[in-house]
Amino acid sequence: MSLLQVTDLHVHFPASSGWLGMHKRWLKAVNGVSLSLARGEVLGLVGESGSGKSSLGRAILYLEEIRSGTVSFDGVDITRGNRCDIQRLRHETAMIFQDPYAALNPRMKVGEILAEVLQVHHRLPIEQRTDRVMELLRLVGLPKEMVSRRPHSLSGGQCQRLGIARALAVEPRLIVADECVSALDVSIQGQIINLLLKLRQQMNLALLFISHDLSVVHRVCDRVAVMYMGQIVEEGPVEAVFNRPHHPYTAALISSIPQLDPSKPLPTHPLPGEPPSPLKLPSGCMFHPRCHLALPACAKTPPPIRSLQNRRYSCVLDETQF
Ligand SMILES: Nc1ncnc2c1ncn2[C@@H]1O[C@H](COP(=O)(O)OP(=O)(O)OP(=O)(O)O)[C@@H](O)[C@H]1O
Ligand SMILES: [Mg+2]
Repeated sequence: MSLLQVTDLHVHFPASSGWLGMHKRWLKAVNGVSLSLARGEVLGLVGESGSGKSSLGRAILYLEEIRSGTVSFDGVDITRGNRCDIQRLRHETAMIFQDPYAALNPRMKVGEILAEVLQVHHRLPIEQRTDRVMELLRLVGLPKEMVSRRPHSLSGGQCQRLGIARALAVEPRLIVADECVSALDVSIQGQIINLLLKLRQQMNLALLFISHDLSVVHRVCDRVAVMYMGQIVEEGPVEAVFNRPHHPYTAALISSIPQLDPSKPLPTHPLPGEPPSPLKLPSGCMFHPRCHLALPACAKTPPPIRSLQNRRYSCVLDETQF
């Protein structure tokens, strides 16, 4: 059984338009997503800005209102769950954010930030909290002197280590990491990624790793899900998807990774234009207005979902035509 099973999930946000905002409309940020995550697995979630990655990540942790669909964590459907199930989810999951400073209380010292989580989640008696705080600092590679510092006196990388320590304090089985290295220098990014991979191995953590950066996802993840306009258009083992994408959107995203090698040719079909307005979703396949392979049928009917061994993608073209 998967640790996490998401089925046909929809997350809508209210949006007004028209004169004086009289027309109430809904923005479909997550539009029928299904995915699963095994224990200890790292799933990358990629896609352009606004594709719904953060909304999906937050909805999985029940931090966003779910319009319809189910999210099962360890076999329990939390969308139908009682307070007890949701509390359990809170105890077994955590989130790491893009901006580590913004997520930390600037008035509290590092030790207090971690001790607070231990108090709330584990009701750990005060005498055991100090030991656990020190252990958490050691786990994420922060020197113990940091315990009495405040977040503003830490570097970006140190702050993100603290963000990870705080996430680990709940002893989670699933972490949603939302662009957790995007704000850091490349060399620090590497350190934080190595730390996450080490912790994942030590603790059998499952990770939903949300990132714009496909090369980081390639390095970190076992599987990857590609999101476009609130839907997952392709999903599979990271190596297979990156080597031979089956969806034209995935192919365009991959070809837009800047090549370090200047002798390599430029992409033949880079991603054209911008995504459409999420308030006016295209008919048929959401990607058809930007797809260089689109057929007349793509504008009319939603594409079929094709499953091939451990891969899945939604396109009228099968992988031999592509
Ligand atoms: N609280 C909200 N209220 C209204 N609309 C929202 C809200 N949060 C997100 N949206 C909209 O939902 C869509 C998906 O946003 P989301 O933040 O999930 O995308 P994303 O893939 O995480 O983008 P990015 O890569 O820029 O972080 C966007 O059109 C966004 O404007
Ligand atoms: Mg986001």
